[in-house]
Amino acid sequence: MNDDKDRIVTPLNIVGDTENEYSLRPKKINEYIGQKKVKEKLEIFIEAAKKRKEALDHVLLYGPPGLGKTTLANIIALEMGGNLKVTSGPAIERAGDLAAILTSLNNYDVLFIDEIHRLSRNVEEILYPAMEDYALDIIIGKGASAKSIRLDLPKFTLIGATTRVGLLTSPLRDRFGVMCPMEFYEDDELKEIIVRSAQILGVGIEESAALEIGSRSRGTPRIANRLLKRVRDYSDVKGSGIVNLEVTKAALELLDVDKEGFDSIDNKIITAIVDNFNGGPVGLETLAYFIGEELDTIQDVYEPYLLQKGFIIRTPRGRVASDSAYKHLNRSRKCSKSDKNAVEQESIFNDEI
Ligand code: ADE
Repeated sequence: MNDDKDRIVTPLNIVGDTENEYSLRPKKINEYIGQKKVKEKLEIFIEAAKKRKEALDHVLLYGPPGLGKTTLANIIALEMGGNLKVTSGPAIERAGDLAAILTSLNNYDVLFIDEIHRLSRNVEEILYPAMEDYALDIIIGKGASAKSIRLDLPKFTLIGATTRVGLLTSPLRDRFGVMCPMEFYEDDELKEIIVRSAQILGVGIEESAALEIGSRSRGTPRIANRLLKRVRDYSDVKGSGIVNLEVTKAALELLDVDKEGFDSIDNKIITAIVDNFNGGPVGLETLAYFIGEELDTIQDVYEPYLLQKGFIIRTPRGRVASDSAYKHLNRSRKCSKSDKNAVEQESIFNDEI
């Protein structure tokens, strides 16, 4: 089994990113590039909450990894003048752990829970009154003599982040006042992010080189910043120091990042569908088993970008390779026109997973 964190184009956070994430992260909402709609909503709701001297309503950020959910949580906390407390669904094992976190907060603080879809049921239930009434219900005693007492909590904002919004229970989802779908970034937005990051890192970069890195970053700033650092290394050793298009292309070729930002695993996925499953449909589980990857990793990490770019299509019977996938692999389709129509018909419906 491959470890996704070994990939240069993984959208997941890897050890070498830490320096990036802190120094390159925008601190104010007007420094934040892209996610226009999310930004606009947050700017208005933050200003309104500040005017009324209230905490910002709870925010749910959802979408693929690496798109800047933690960065936004930092910005919100700074804008609201509160502290940010970061935790994650799997890290909160017991209801008492969450109660301890909640009682340590102050007014206007932001509690960021990453992977919120992975909270256990009894922990989640503590969140309901906390979110709705800023209250913590504690049960004292057992059985018939058990009593519930209610403690007041400070006026805080919960920011939940998830790559799998469909897995949230409806009582939890309904308690978020602000829903923010995060989308893959456009190439020119990534170019802007790279130019900004290069400035912070003190790297000279030509616009064409920044755009080239941006267009191979799978719509993901975390990947763009990581590739920038590797291209800078290459340029420092092999080039003149200033990052130009020629050096960028050579560095990305060395890193096996192709024109679409695909690496060997993306190519393995589409090649398997095309060559081994005759273009599909193939169930995600079968595909994961075939290429030796975890099903969740394919679904959360690799597939969102391949779907968004239209290389694979979800159908009720599994994943199907699109014409773009065939073109990318330089293959011609072996099926008849009627098969193609069937695929198009199927893709109208949702998938089995
Ligand atoms: N660095 C990472 N994400 C960013 C963004 N959205 N805007 C500016 N800089 C970033």
